[in-house]
Amino acid sequence: MCGIVGILGKEPVAPLLVDALRRLEYRGYDSAGVATLEDGRLTRRRAEGKLRNLEARLKDEPLAGTIGIGHTRWATHGRPTERNAHPHATDRLAVVHNGIIENFRELRQRLEAEGDVFETETDTEVVARLVTHEMRKTNDPAAAVAAALPQLHGAFALAFLFDGHEELMIGARKGAPLAVGYGEGEMYLGSDALALAPFTQTISYLDDGDWVVLDRKGAVIRDAFGAKADRPKIRTSAGAFLVDKGNHRHFMAKEIHEQPEVVGRTLAHYLDMANGRVRMPADLPFDWAKLDRITMSACGTAYYAGLVGKYWFERFARIPVEIDVASEFRYREAPLSAAGLSVVISQSGETADTLAGLRYAKEQGQHVLSIVNVPTSTIARESSAAAPTLAGPEIGVASTKAFTCQLAVLACLAIGAGRARGTLDAERERELVAELVKVPGLMADALKHEAAVEHVARDIAKTTDVLFLGRGTNYPLALEGALKLKEISYIHAEGYAAGELKHGPIALIDETMPVVVLAPRDAIFEKTVSNMQEVAARGGRIILIAEETAADEAGLVPAGMIPMAPMAPEFAAIVYAVPAQLLAYYAAVTLGKDVDQPRNLAKSVTVE
Ligand code: M6R
Repeated sequence: MCGIVGILGKEPVAPLLVDALRRLEYRGYDSAGVATLEDGRLTRRRAEGKLRNLEARLKDEPLAGTIGIGHTRWATHGRPTERNAHPHATDRLAVVHNGIIENFRELRQRLEAEGDVFETETDTEVVARLVTHEMRKTNDPAAAVAAALPQLHGAFALAFLFDGHEELMIGARKGAPLAVGYGEGEMYLGSDALALAPFTQTISYLDDGDWVVLDRKGAVIRDAFGAKADRPKIRTSAGAFLVDKGNHRHFMAKEIHEQPEVVGRTLAHYLDMANGRVRMPADLPFDWAKLDRITMSACGTAYYAGLVGKYWFERFARIPVEIDVASEFRYREAPLSAAGLSVVISQSGETADTLAGLRYAKEQGQHVLSIVNVPTSTIARESSAAAPTLAGPEIGVASTKAFTCQLAVLACLAIGAGRARGTLDAERERELVAELVKVPGLMADALKHEAAVEHVARDIAKTTDVLFLGRGTNYPLALEGALKLKEISYIHAEGYAAGELKHGPIALIDETMPVVVLAPRDAIFEKTVSNMQEVAARGGRIILIAEETAADEAGLVPAGMIPMAPMAPEFAAIVYAVPAQLLAYYAAVTLGKDVDQPRNLAKSVTVE
């Protein structure tokens, strides 16, 4: 889950590598490093911590050279120290790696027995030493890489730079993404199109097992068997921008505030508003009317979006939906019927567990529909069909606008499926579409109560544990609210179905623990009120997110109140996500946490 980049350029590459790494920092930010050839000799700079530390290092000790590789790390093997930072080097080569070499211990023992002395605890150093060993036999870098690759088990994207070889870079891919970028007398390697966006929009994605030899004139790609392979050159729309924070302090704040716009844009893509109908993605290779089941899998926030989607698909389209976190789904050998559809959900489209779930479903003969934010991602490319979320690049590690856009897509698909299956008539479809159309405006309205959320969040920041409760589609939102708070403020939080409270978590209630209740006015509002009474009766501190009159109606005096506009209940979860996100955001800001790059996390989890 690291980011890698390689440039064979015409000008000094170190600043360009850093620029590319900035776009890849979402993949990890434990440490970073670059290596170039200065007068043909390998030289590198590395630094522990954020990319800015590497930049400072390069300012003090600049690197010359027009060919180089770079890396931003999310530690898997070995602590995130400078010594363990990539590029890893020998006297012959330097290498950057994204992924995990599963047999690195066995290889290391073998190499140590042959006299190698390792300097780090990383699996990547094994790659550097293994290829160096092969080079001693052949003195040919390409032959050495070709001999080493089959010995590596696990997942990897690799970029190699060779001492004394100003016109050579080698890349390889197995289970982790790698793109080749084409310039004018310049060539590139990168983990994704965004990293290469300022340099080129023409790229080829390597297939699994491919490896590639680059010089400044072009690339020769070979498959796992060594045969020359043609991988299509595509024009990407990643654009040359590095998304900025606008007037906001953090990307997360900006992304929360963008939601009315991007959810509106996503809905506009799927709705024929004039006729009150859903526009389903074209050329789907399956018939909604004939499906007997949907199996969803996803991770983290995307999984919670799927949980909300389950309610909608089952209610509107009467299709049973099974849903798993992808890390379980991929291994539990679920029987999948030929008449079933798999749906995977992912912002990045690169999450390793979700991708493995997708591949499992395909092996079982199922069609896979992905709901994905990065249209060029591996998940989008490997799916039978992709339904895009139009959230735009999401930089904050905590997912916000991608989540609400995923919800918007799921709502549209569930309605469209309902129409196709005859479980929704045209009138009900029109009503539901009319409700969806109101969502962006309601989200904008929710943002107006930011000051109230900030006030409550300051209080939450003083506590160590928080409970989130909700029912129906607001139950997954309670889980999501708790995840948001945990990941950016490091306050322990749990989400529960409000009805489950009495089956255990009620034991936690005391006068110190905030209980955040997401309570839109829906058919089971009264049941949620009863749950709040149960909390109040035990001296619990309720933070109510609900219509302004809800507390009075429930006969409660909450410790905190975040008012919401009246709305139809069907899609309230999309709107109620806004205060849940803001609550986590302001708690983290109050505590002075690194909101956009919380500790131990990475935006895109491309390892198991
Ligand atoms: O890119 P994906 O949507 O596949 O990522 C899935 C999760 O890793 C992601 O949602 C993660 O839980 C976020 N940090 C949540 O804010």
